[in-house]
Amino acid sequence: QADERESMFLVSEYARDYFHKNLLEDPQGKAIGLSYFIERGYTEETIKKFQLGYSLNEWEAFTLEAINKGYNLKHLESTGLTIVKQDSQNPNNTKQFDRFKGRVMFPIHSMSGRVLGFGGRILTNDKKAAKYLNSPDSDIYHKSNVLYGIHYAKQTIAREDNCYLVEGYTDTITLHQCGIENVVASSGTALTENQIRLVNRLTKNITILFDGDAAGIRASIRGIDLILEQGMNVRVLMFPDGDDPDSYAKKVTEEELKHYLENNSQDFINFKVSLLMEEAKNDPIKKAGLIRDIVISISKIPDRIQREVYIQECSRIMDISENVLFNELAQIFNKQK
Ligand code: CTP
Ligand code: MN
Ligand code: MN
Ligand code: MN
Ligand code: MN
Repeated sequence: QADERESMFLVSEYARDYFHKNLLEDPQGKAIGLSYFIERGYTEETIKKFQLGYSLNEWEAFTLEAINKGYNLKHLESTGLTIVKQDSQNPNNTKQFDRFKGRVMFPIHSMSGRVLGFGGRILTNDKKAAKYLNSPDSDIYHKSNVLYGIHYAKQTIAREDNCYLVEGYTDTITLHQCGIENVVASSGTALTENQIRLVNRLTKNITILFDGDAAGIRASIRGIDLILEQGMNVRVLMFPDGDDPDSYAKKVTEEELKHYLENNSQDFINFKVSLLMEEAKNDPIKKAGLIRDIVISISKIPDRIQREVYIQECSRIMDISENVLFNELAQIFNKQK
């Protein structure tokens, strides 16, 4: 079992090197993959640091090369790098082909830097095809337990005592290139308890930097309660007009980006209030619902004193008596019994 997992790591790390070499040396890789990254503003240093790659647009180029190098088809299949299927012409035969074809490749690392899997981005603007194809879950890769970039970010997260949480691979990489290294990505999945636990080992403070669109706002709201439940502090920062951290960073200077991050994050409670107030406006019924919603978030905080501080804050910014809010909180706790 341990041997099997080690073999899966080794073949994944071979794939990382193979894709990276394609990007930097293969004519197709250079013309298509490398020029794509350069157009997006990535430096050679960034491309090397994140071990970015390119998968050739061929049926089984990678699989054949890996087998030729002595890697076992079994591990190529269990990592999802190779897809093995029964041959429809001849049921006694199987056919094998590469999962990733004609994509730029993002290796996904464990906390300690082992390669667990890959994300591969298409280079066309074909709206029908999925933009990203990811490795399937396997004995070494559990999507819901992994944060993209954690290996590169862990030291800075601990030193800065804060972690920026973004949605995407390119958000992570762009912020690093701009000198902000305490950043990890949930990779588009709904944030999970286990992902937050990884950060909790390094800092108690998370700042959510999700995309400035409806999906990003919804994901931020869900993320807030999960983070509070682990006794962590959560701030939220939104980007203007549908920007994500990557696209925003490319519109401004590094100084402006840092200034924006330092001056525009809100405590979760202010974030929720301003967001929901906008919706509720002068509708008292909606406003009541929104107050309950915020008190539910506060009820997730394990520490009683911290809960009280937030109730006071909530009372102040919403101009509602603390008594009403404490009663609401008591009701929520009673229902849970
Ligand atoms: N994602 C995914 N599969 C998709 C779309 C998205 O796995 N079909 C994940 C990827 O990890 C992606 C993240 O969700 O990085 C955020 O998605 P999105 O905002 O759509 O992509 P970006 O990261 O902004 O990618 P890019 O800047 O390259 O367009
Ligand atoms: Mn998005
Ligand atoms: Mn995005
Ligand atoms: Mn983007
Ligand atoms: Mn920049």
